[in-house]
Amino acid sequence: MSGDDRWWREGVCYQIYPRSFADADGDGVGDLRGIIDRLDHLAWLGVRGVWLNPVTPSPNADWGYDVADYCDVDPTLGSLADLDALVAAAAGRGIRVLLDLVPNHTSDAHPWFRAARSSRDDPHRDFYVWADPAPDGGPPNNWVSTFGGPAWTFDEATGQWYLHNFLDRQPDLNWWNPAVADAFDEILRFWFDRGVAGFRIDVAHMIVKDRHLRDNPPVLAGDPFPLQVRGQRPVFNERLPEVHDVHRRWRRLADTYTPPRVLVGETFCEDVRDVVPFYGRGDELHLAFNIPFALCPFEPGALRAVIDETEARLPPGCVPVWTASNHDLSRFPTRWCDGDEATTRVALMLLLTLRGCVFLYYGDEIGLCDTDVPRERLLDPVGVRFHPYAGRDPQRTPMPWHDGPGAGFTRAGVEPWLPFGSLERNVAVQRHDPDSILSLTRDLIGLRDALGDLRTGLHRSLEAPPGVLAYRRGEDVLVALNLGDEPATLPGPWHGSVRIGTRRSRDEERVAGPLALEPAEGVVVVLDRPA
Ligand code: NOJ
Repeated sequence: MSGDDRWWREGVCYQIYPRSFADADGDGVGDLRGIIDRLDHLAWLGVRGVWLNPVTPSPNADWGYDVADYCDVDPTLGSLADLDALVAAAAGRGIRVLLDLVPNHTSDAHPWFRAARSSRDDPHRDFYVWADPAPDGGPPNNWVSTFGGPAWTFDEATGQWYLHNFLDRQPDLNWWNPAVADAFDEILRFWFDRGVAGFRIDVAHMIVKDRHLRDNPPVLAGDPFPLQVRGQRPVFNERLPEVHDVHRRWRRLADTYTPPRVLVGETFCEDVRDVVPFYGRGDELHLAFNIPFALCPFEPGALRAVIDETEARLPPGCVPVWTASNHDLSRFPTRWCDGDEATTRVALMLLLTLRGCVFLYYGDEIGLCDTDVPRERLLDPVGVRFHPYAGRDPQRTPMPWHDGPGAGFTRAGVEPWLPFGSLERNVAVQRHDPDSILSLTRDLIGLRDALGDLRTGLHRSLEAPPGVLAYRRGEDVLVALNLGDEPATLPGPWHGSVRIGTRRSRDEERVAGPLALEPAEGVVVVLDRPA
């Protein structure tokens, strides 16, 4: 392994939702200059890479995931020059920048789609998936959109339906058309040439759809809840074998660069077994998000099962990627920990002591919880449509840098695009408190940097009493996490010393014998080498 790839093979990366991280121009919306201003925070934390949610121009029907131009920056967020400046400023701190690539669909405002819907004969018509009405005049097949309702919208002017697996304002691209693949090669090169380290690839598992547009079969009893809601199994519009051809093509292209650019897939699958194929034989995606881990209940048996299965199934040399929160999922301090600080600290210890690559979501490092966003402030189309289900705004609210006016996010008196949540957990108050969640996060990242066993050592789960998740990392490291609300003891004997405890009073404590844990407590122990 060369030093070039350690940042993503072993390091901690950080997801930034640009509209909510830091607002330099004081319009209430975060921007690229704001991110530059806050890079020192990330360098101090020990982060090696950042992934920015889409920064490309967008009418924001789905907040950037409806792209109107793949090769520019949305003026609300800045300019191409700002992006270049961000890449350079991050590089100066040893931080790589990953952008978000959205290849499944464009915005309906993209020039390709405008041209495509202008006439059936337009050269861009075949960039999208068009089909004649079914015999009854309805949609061409039974596919439903991930965001609810039919996955098809009728275009009156040209008399055909177009496919959209998300909003009707997000028409799906036709990946059977070689011109689409060629156009994306140019898009990848455009950003790689600017020094971007790689891409997080939106819905990487679903960009190719059945050529014959066959109906999906109905769900079966026992299928996971999201499928039950849709009423069908996405056999013909997700995880088609041809998706892998596209990934291999991009991998070949990424590998022509020095250093090779990195591909991280949003492989939103319910089961680890379905995530593994996206690594290919080391010739597809470098990293594939482990969504089953993020969606797992915070319960030792369930977590152990996902972790063990991931470790067992990933081919040698492939790197697991762990994340607990993102812009689509409720934040883990809320979802896993119900806001409880001690449990949040245990969850961070888990995340930061697993083998491979870790992605923190902005705010994870201070234990930021979801925000209750009032109905009149909802902006996520999913939340608006399915209210009272809260949608995704609660996990996208501005970063609290301090608890004064503007929260360090924007100018005092400016109303941010989404409301602030609680400012109680903020960066400033935690930064100089050695006992804070932020200090714990930083110290765990530092320990990971310092201990080869924590970065790359084999993961081996241990038998543990109820409530406890325990594992060895490599030869020398023991991690023991009590997720329960009763004291527990991991039978030993163990000999070593606690390097970091979620209760910091245990740091440096000697361990000789069984390892006792309070409720919602975790420790990383470095074991003595046998004499
Ligand atoms: C997955 C993204 O993470 C999500 O935010 C978006 O709405 C859909 N893909 C559609 O692009």
